[in-house]
Amino acid sequence: MTDLIKTSKKDGILTITMNRPDKKNALTTGMYSDMTKAIKDAANDSDLRVILITGSQDAFCAGNDLMDFLNNPPQDDSSPVLQFLKTLSEAELPVVAAVNGTAVGIGTTMLLHCDFVYVADDSTFSLPFINLGLVPEAGSSMLLPRLAGHQRAAELLMLGEPFTAEDAKEVGFVNRICKPEDVLDTAMKTAEKLAKKPQNALRETKALMRQDFESVAARISREADVFKDCLTSEETKNAITTFFGRKKPGAPKSG
Ligand code: COA
Repeated sequence: MTDLIKTSKKDGILTITMNRPDKKNALTTGMYSDMTKAIKDAANDSDLRVILITGSQDAFCAGNDLMDFLNNPPQDDSSPVLQFLKTLSEAELPVVAAVNGTAVGIGTTMLLHCDFVYVADDSTFSLPFINLGLVPEAGSSMLLPRLAGHQRAAELLMLGEPFTAEDAKEVGFVNRICKPEDVLDTAMKTAEKLAKKPQNALRETKALMRQDFESVAARISREADVFKDCLTSEETKNAITTFFGRKKPGAPKSG
């Protein structure tokens, strides 16, 4: 484990904290691998009953590390990002998310695989794949239209503009909007309630609710094939170069 992902266990709850605040918790391959291991290990740890995922106060997660996209692009289903998505989407234990600050790209799409999502009233979300010359991931091309209807999903995925906590709740993947200082406590209270439920029934309930996981897994994989090709395109290289050049004197501001 790197210290960019911190884990702690208490009263049956595994808390996974993305801890790279200087980069807004952008996820590197190592961070994906650490989170995958933590989620997998939790399923076999008889002391654990619930997983809680959180980030820092001003950032839940700024998405995949854009430098990693250039230097370590995911090649196939064995890549750390795809292993993480597979593991999260098939997690046996209930997953609760506590979101403060910004959630971009996979920072937002991972929430589609959580069972409970609590967000700060000033948190912001975005699915900027299109602006990077990329396509949706994490099964979001299937899960978002299902949740929000085609037109609202098209707005999020084809325009790629930031949206608010209220919008996210309306789309349907947020349980409750909280004051920023209350998000973690609220999420923890739900995790504590879940930890006290009959555990076999809880796991079986989750498994029954996720019965279409095979089609979700197939979509994640199909998206990844297209995504991988897009990553090597000039459109994407230019967009990422523009992002990293945005603070240089005279560089245009990225949107
Ligand atoms: N990959 C790599 N580095 C990232 C990053 C990412 N996805 N997101 C942010 N960072 C880095 C920035 O380069 C900056 O590093 P620096 O201080 O060394 O220059 C640092 O994190 C802080 O980011 P900054 O842009 O200054 O913060 P902000 O509050 O103005 O904006 C974001 C925050 C998340 C809105 C903005 O950083 C952003 O748009 N990031 C890219 C998100 C993205 O496109 N993710 C991929 C989706 S598929």
